[in-house]
Amino acid sequence: MNRKIVVTSALPYANGPIHIGHLVEYLQTDIWVRFQKANGNQCLYFCADDTHGTPIMISAKAQGLPPEKLIERMYAEHVRDFKSFHIEFDNFYSTHSDENRQLSELVFEHLNKRGSIIKREIEQAFCDNCKMFLPDRFIKGTCPKCKAEDQYGDSCDTCGGTYQPTELIKPACATCGTKPTIKKSIHYFFKLADYKQQLKELMASGHTGKSVANKLDEWFAAGLKDWDISRDGPYFGFKIPGEENKFFYVWLDAPIGYMASCKNYCDKNGLDFEKVWNGEDYELYHFIGKDIMYFHALFWPAMLTGAGFKIANKLFVHGFLTVNGVKMSKSKGTFIKAATYAKHLDPEHLRYYYASKLTDGVDDIDLSLDDFVAKINSDLVGKLANLASRSVPMLTGKLDSKLGTIDKEGKELLAQLTSARQQIINDYENLNYASAVRQIAALADTANRYVEQNQPWTTIKTDVEKTRTTLTVIVNAVKVLAVYLKPVLPIFAGKIEKILGIENLSFADVEKALENQKINEYIRLAERIDKDKVQAMIEETKNEQAEQKPQTTLDEPIAPECTIDDFMKVDLRIAKVTRAEAVEGADKLLHLELDIGGVTKNVFAGIAKAYKPADLVGKLVICVANLKPRKMKFGLSEGMILAAGPGGSDIFMLSVDNGAEPGQRVH
Ligand code: 2FM
Ligand code: ZN
Repeated sequence: MNRKIVVTSALPYANGPIHIGHLVEYLQTDIWVRFQKANGNQCLYFCADDTHGTPIMISAKAQGLPPEKLIERMYAEHVRDFKSFHIEFDNFYSTHSDENRQLSELVFEHLNKRGSIIKREIEQAFCDNCKMFLPDRFIKGTCPKCKAEDQYGDSCDTCGGTYQPTELIKPACATCGTKPTIKKSIHYFFKLADYKQQLKELMASGHTGKSVANKLDEWFAAGLKDWDISRDGPYFGFKIPGEENKFFYVWLDAPIGYMASCKNYCDKNGLDFEKVWNGEDYELYHFIGKDIMYFHALFWPAMLTGAGFKIANKLFVHGFLTVNGVKMSKSKGTFIKAATYAKHLDPEHLRYYYASKLTDGVDDIDLSLDDFVAKINSDLVGKLANLASRSVPMLTGKLDSKLGTIDKEGKELLAQLTSARQQIINDYENLNYASAVRQIAALADTANRYVEQNQPWTTIKTDVEKTRTTLTVIVNAVKVLAVYLKPVLPIFAGKIEKILGIENLSFADVEKALENQKINEYIRLAERIDKDKVQAMIEETKNEQAEQKPQTTLDEPIAPECTIDDFMKVDLRIAKVTRAEAVEGADKLLHLELDIGGVTKNVFAGIAKAYKPADLVGKLVICVANLKPRKMKFGLSEGMILAAGPGGSDIFMLSVDNGAEPGQRVH
């Protein structure tokens, strides 16, 4: 009987591009989903952009965009990148959606009714200038342990130490540099410990693999703490019902985003959400990285239980990506964006390489770039594509495109290939893609040996029908291997389908022999990787990093808001320059004497590189007349003239030439 399966991958944050580290998970999941479909099961794959939270709000502000605009842009980029890697979601949605708001409120209400939510006052760092509470990552200062400067509020990149933001030496708001104060606020907490028993039973029932279960045991031993699920505004997220300025913490509505994506799909496709998401007929699996286990193995099942929803059958947890044996690095040019990869190299090659490395464990997988080139060139091009290029063009070019029959020797070869079917199915099912790929490559070796032994390029000169038999066997071998590879290489397998004239190859086709029928023209299946292209990708990545001012086109973040009332405090007057002279010892300053309708003001203005004193005398300029006088090294400055620019000689003074009167107020 066919299974019905719902699958999710973790939701990518909507404030950054997809990179090759993210792709480990999306490719792992996509391969599994494609395998299920090719194995006759119904499988729905849901995901969405994770759009809420402080980092997104701040990054939007720094780019001078409303957060809605930023997440819209990122959405389009993410969709494009996933598509280029042939990652095929049934629905890729957004957590900033009506469905997600409704479901988040619903889950919250259920938990609240059960008494699983409490309110408590907490103390938190607050920036008086930005007028917002600061998450740990938005406080910077000197590490209390190793004294390294410019470290985050929760941990030090230099010594690896962790600490409370209050322990930082010289703490400062990461956005504006102001020293944070401590402020109290009421927050909502989810009482995770209420679900301890259920969670323990869930773990015992094999909800995760062994190594993950061990980690969870540590967390149980440490005690399950209440989880803070609210944030004070300003915050980009969903407002908590009944509150004016409190929002759900992004990690509350993010996993609910899985449900929202499913609901949106069901509504669009006439399916019953309750059945698909919550029904017994459907299996449910979440693919995640090991960094977000706490959320998915503890908070998420507890929330679902409390809100009366079913829990996933299993969590599939993977490790991180390393490149050339070390963490992805900006300076080494290995922090490679999906789009940059796709510009230089074939996305299917990365699919193949990751598949050749992926197992069901949480160990990190390494992309060794030399090994990548060697493996693609030897396995994919040298073994797999080669089988087709040695058989199809000869059949179409010299033998009328017509397959013959399979002889005894051919049957023996094909039996070796088809008998691996169940093992390969098991490997895919159990996430042991590395084992599946190893077997497929070994079977390709066996098939290539058959080609060597039968030498069709020699026999074609003397025995056409014997050659047709040989080529028929090879084409059948190609078909079997195409089925096996299809979850990993959908485009490669699709080309083979075209050549064979078969619409939708599946695992059910492995044993069906193709005989006495025509095939279509050959299509090139894979190109060798040129090492220079890998190098070009690395170089481009390095350049992107160098160019990338922290995710914004602005040199400096936009300053905190000021109101129109703040602005109206500034009294601007027409002023006549009655004297202008250079200031000794300050080559940027000019000393100006201004007449503001009978009132004389001395002003030191930083415009000496842009204007000559003699050119200024007699000019009408605009002066901030109510600026508090400031004592400078060279004398008292009693105002300011309006002039702005990047600096040096690029400063532009507002001068007025319309018969205005000194002292006249301007707006
Ligand atoms: O860690 C992350 O990248 C999160 N955006 C994952 C969220 S997964 C789910 F819970 F929504
Ligand atoms: Zn600030």
